[in-house]
Amino acid sequence: MNRFVLFVFAISFFSACNAQVGLVDKTITLATKQYSNAERDAPKSGNRIIPRTINPITNELICVKLEDWTSGFFAGNLWMMYKLTGNDIWKQKAIVWTEKMAPIRFFYGHHDVGFMMGCSYGNGYYIGSQNHYDSVLVQSAKSLAKRFDCKVGCIESWNSFKSWTDEKQYDFPVIIDNMMNLELMFEATKFTGDSSFREMAISHADVTLKNHFRPDNSSYHVVMYNQTTGLVESKQTAQGLAHESAWARGQAWGLYGYTICYRYTKNKKYLDQAVNIAEFWLTHKNMPKDGIPYWDFDAIEPGALAVGRTNVTKLSGVPRDVAAASIVASALVELSDYVNASLSKKYKKAAEKIVKSLATSYMADTQKNKYFILEQSVGSIPHASEISVPLNYADYYFLEALVRLKAQ
Ligand code: GLY
Repeated sequence: MNRFVLFVFAISFFSACNAQVGLVDKTITLATKQYSNAERDAPKSGNRIIPRTINPITNELICVKLEDWTSGFFAGNLWMMYKLTGNDIWKQKAIVWTEKMAPIRFFYGHHDVGFMMGCSYGNGYYIGSQNHYDSVLVQSAKSLAKRFDCKVGCIESWNSFKSWTDEKQYDFPVIIDNMMNLELMFEATKFTGDSSFREMAISHADVTLKNHFRPDNSSYHVVMYNQTTGLVESKQTAQGLAHESAWARGQAWGLYGYTICYRYTKNKKYLDQAVNIAEFWLTHKNMPKDGIPYWDFDAIEPGALAVGRTNVTKLSGVPRDVAAASIVASALVELSDYVNASLSKKYKKAAEKIVKSLATSYMADTQKNKYFILEQSVGSIPHASEISVPLNYADYYFLEALVRLKAQ
């Protein structure tokens, strides 16, 4: 390398590092304020104690029950803050919020036990060195395993799903999001040596690979199975624009999920699928220039609503989904460790771009949002719920992406 090239390389390397340090510092300052407010204002008793979002009209904190699928993320955010700062205060807070989740180790009312216990107890085990959390994680995996069906080869997501369009009720729905719960199953095998958890995870990943994806590598949201025959009955959406559309967060869960499967198995077919989804995401013609997707890749018309739904709020523009962007940023950093040098560079650069966009244009306006770091996520437009609001899981994957980038 000649001296000039070396000089330019050194300047850009150091300014990239400085930019990242500035971004991390800015996030830590904001999160310190926001999460202290959330801890102060969350109810200390009763059912709804876990900060999830805010009311977009009154700006009040909205908290949810332990059984809510997002209940593990607040503890997870505190673990990420501990990892980012190394400050013991965050560890103490994270332990308190993690241990509120203890009853969920026996919960199997839906499939999200992996999210709930992985983000809380899983991070406590790995980031907080809380070694005794292993038994809680194993018990949680045993609860999740109750939802596995041998004939279908999958973990059932919801107990039933009422279609928007054919009026039928389906009894064995599996959603792409469920890929995220497999990490808990892989971990349970690591802790116990009992391979059955891992086998269930692999079966679920294989059946999902076969049935959830379209030729362009976008995924359906919900695949309905017949428990008697094990066959697919229908492929639909619950939170996307249409059955055949690409709901942004679904694509994000798929990308993150297959990256997890590769982490634990080193099976190339999972890596290939993660790469396929990453390419769908990064090359999509409807991806806005700042790298933050619309809530659904096919929802590009202002006011685009969801088919079959009549209760949808009229939208003035096309909402972005910051949560989907955060999930993908974090997944791409991990994926960049598993692929060849040119893809690795591309994925890391894409993750950095997303994180920078989020930190530049989607951070909280603290006059309105006093509790979370990011704005403009979407819970479910078809359900007219949580449109362009902060969400605890958007923060979680953003913080995780920062932690992962910092570690590189
Ligand atoms: N797993 C539920 C969601 O992404 O909305």
